[in-house]
Amino acid sequence: MKKKHNVLIVSSECAPYAKTGGLADVAGSLPKALKKRGYDVRVVIPKYSFLDVRKYKIEPFIHNMGVWMGDREEWCTVHKTEMDGVTLYLIEFNLYFERSGLYHDEDFNDYLDNPRRFAFFSRAALQLCRDIDFSPDIIHTNDWQTALIPAYLKVWHWDDPILGKAASVLTIHNMAYQGIYPKSHYGYIGLGERNFTWDKLECFGSVNFLKGGIVFADIVNTVSPTYAMETKTSDGGYGLAQYLNDRGENYTGILNGVDYAHWDPETDNLIPANYSIENKEGKAFCKKELQKRFLLLENPDIPIVGIVSRFVSQKGLELLAQSIEDIVQSMRVQFVILGSGDKRLEDFFKWLPLRYGGIIGSYIGYNNELAHLIEAGSDFFLMPSLYEPCGLNQIYSLKYGTLPIVRATGGLADTVENYREATGEGTGFVFYEASANAVYYTVGWAVSTYYDRKHHLELLIRNAMAKDFSWDKSVLEYEKLYKKAMENKKKG
Ligand code: ADP
Ligand code: GLC
Repeated sequence: MKKKHNVLIVSSECAPYAKTGGLADVAGSLPKALKKRGYDVRVVIPKYSFLDVRKYKIEPFIHNMGVWMGDREEWCTVHKTEMDGVTLYLIEFNLYFERSGLYHDEDFNDYLDNPRRFAFFSRAALQLCRDIDFSPDIIHTNDWQTALIPAYLKVWHWDDPILGKAASVLTIHNMAYQGIYPKSHYGYIGLGERNFTWDKLECFGSVNFLKGGIVFADIVNTVSPTYAMETKTSDGGYGLAQYLNDRGENYTGILNGVDYAHWDPETDNLIPANYSIENKEGKAFCKKELQKRFLLLENPDIPIVGIVSRFVSQKGLELLAQSIEDIVQSMRVQFVILGSGDKRLEDFFKWLPLRYGGIIGSYIGYNNELAHLIEAGSDFFLMPSLYEPCGLNQIYSLKYGTLPIVRATGGLADTVENYREATGEGTGFVFYEASANAVYYTVGWAVSTYYDRKHHLELLIRNAMAKDFSWDKSVLEYEKLYKKAMENKKKG
């Protein structure tokens, strides 16, 4: 067999170690799929101080690694562990990563030194390759946090014996987070005044990490085909559409895969009972437990709509906030809401169970076990996103036979097929307009299907559970992307 290539994946999150959202799920599962295809793939993340070193068998690996930044050398430690056969390196630097959060404090205030933290992390990942003599063919970076790596490679490491042939891939998981920071950090970042120009790293006088990545990477992609199209328009591109369009065929969309080793009701060990497409008894039990856990009226015949989400404007939860009271006042339905973020939404969703006891339950915070229970125990899963690069929860929902109710945007449009009342085809309920009314009527449509068209509900659940979004398919797309990145790199 031909030797497969060396791949270094650099990410600020990786499940199960450090996670705020879907990026972690992707960084934790794509490497395993690549390894199965024969790549020597390794992953680098920061060693956040909250990481459970014992549980994950994280061991010190390099004691003193010097990392050159623009105006000084920093000294850090590297740790190592195995993630299902994939080597995971963790960069320890207390000044930057001894904090309670990944990007912000408990009140969701971003850490002011984020540009320094992640510029340092990015350079440290590159230095690591040199210290361990690992010569990557591909360095796969993710989002703004690691988007400077393509620039570092082109500006500083083009003739480096270890890094000189590495092609860079930038995957954009969310256009709205670009890493835009005051110029005062630029000296530390260390990419030279000549690259602080409008067509490279500069943006209205500030430095824009993601823009740098888009311009310098050998290839750029995002996490669904529809989102790739949306981001090339002025409203979806958040100011960077032009730069994405300039990349022509070097900017594409590849749908995320999911890791059914963690998200499959047949084997999930975080849910109270397992079930399958053929035997769904366990799902009824999960529903009962979910009703108990959230102090809802314990009645198997009332449909539950589940929500697991970061409370940020992207997720469209304002639309739910505006319609949920009308919904529960006019339909026999229950809601379970899990999430945190925006304070106003947190307060509102915390208050709802007090006003609608037995009908609405909520948990404000982050809780992985509850996320699994909600996937398993709910009948429907609501994602009214204003935009959604891919979205993983609707894909998990399909597998759990929990029909997604989604707005047709980004990856939601690519993964959920709308119910056709004439035939019973489809895998969920899709709406188009970003309005409270659309949420109201589409939840109503799902609820009426639950009560009045049971035979169709069964069909929809079967269709949904039979869908396969494992990495097997998408990993082949990444292989092609890597190949093209290497060709682009060779062309220079
Ligand atoms: P995003 O990355 O934009 O948040 P995704 O749908 O891609 O959206 O991924 C979200 C991931 O984070 C899912 O695995 C979901 O279960 C998880 N998640 C989000 N909020 C919470 C929470 N409050 N508690 C537990 N898991 C959560
Ligand atoms: C981002 C997006 C989400 C996507 C995830 C993983 O957080 O908001 O839609 O699924 O990244 O790619």
